[in-house]
Parts: sequence; structure tokens; C-alpha cells
Amino acid sequence: METLRHVVVFIHLIGFAVLFGAWVVEAVNRRYQVTRLMNYGLLIAGVAGLALAAPWGIEYDMNYMKIGIKLVVLIAIGALIGIGMGRQRKHGTVPPAIFWSIGLLTALNAAIAVIWR
Ligand code: HEM
Repeated sequence: METLRHVVVFIHLIGFAVLFGAWVVEAVNRRYQVTRLMNYGLLIAGVAGLALAAPWGIEYDMNYMKIGIKLVVLIAIGALIGIGMGRQRKHGTVPPAIFWSIGLLTALNAAIAVIWR
């Protein structure tokens, strides 16, 4: 059970890497764009995160406040990507505030995961 949980954490990290990596590629190339890869990463991180939100394969109490905040941040990222895709379709680019918020909120969720114990 514990090993299975570690595998799900691994999948969760792949989702994070895909989402954040896709965002960094756009940021480094100075393109304010949202891409399909970001959606895939968010989906993988979200599904694996929900599976990890239940207390299985662990012997300690879970921090539900932290998990709840991570879920709210994930929903906010999803909303921003959705709004960004709409704007991109209309204007060809995403407003910088939306683009930077996606990256910052993704980094924030990873920071909450590793710093808040
Ligand atoms: C963009 C969204 C997210 C990012 C970037 C993210 C990032 C991370 C990272 C980097 C870890 C590894 C921390 C460590 O092992 O020290 C982690 C663990 C975890 N995440 Fe997320 N996460 C996201 C969304 C979510 C969501 C939506 C949930 C649940 C509703 C969630 C629940 C968890 C749980 C429970 C763990 C701990 C797993 C364990 O050690 O058993 N995450 N997350």
C-alpha cells in the first residue's frame, strides 16, 4: 500500500513537471501563451492529488487544511488556463497577468506541498 502511494506521488510529480515545464518554456521564449500540455499536466497532478487526499498507505495524520488550499489553488489555475485559452483564441495572446499567475500559482502549490508539513 505504501509503495502504491509512492507511485501515485511520482505520477503527481510528473503532472507538476509537465504543467510547470510547459509554462517555463513559454515564459523563457517570451510568449504569453497557454498550451494543451499545461492542461494535461494540471489534469495528471489533479487526479493523482485527489487520490493522495485520502489517508491510505500512511501512518501519520494528514494536513487537510493544506490539501484544501492546494485544491483551491488547482481550481484557480484551471480557471486561469480556461480564461487564457478563450482570450488566446480571440486575441492570439494571453494577458500577462493571467500568464504569470498560472506559473506563480503552480510554484505556490509545489511550495505549499514541500514546505508546509
Ligand atoms: C498544480 C497543482 C499541484 C502541484 C504543483 C502539486 C505539487 C506537489 C508536490 C511537488 C508534492 C510532493 C511533496 C513531497 O513529497 O514532499 C505534492 C504532494 C502532495 N500533493 Fe500536490 N500538487 C498539486 C495539486 C494537488 C491537489 C489538487 C491535491 C489534493 C486535492 C494535492 C495533494 C497532495 C498530497 C496529499 C501530497 C502528499 C503526498 C504524500 O506524501 O503522501 N496536490 N504535491
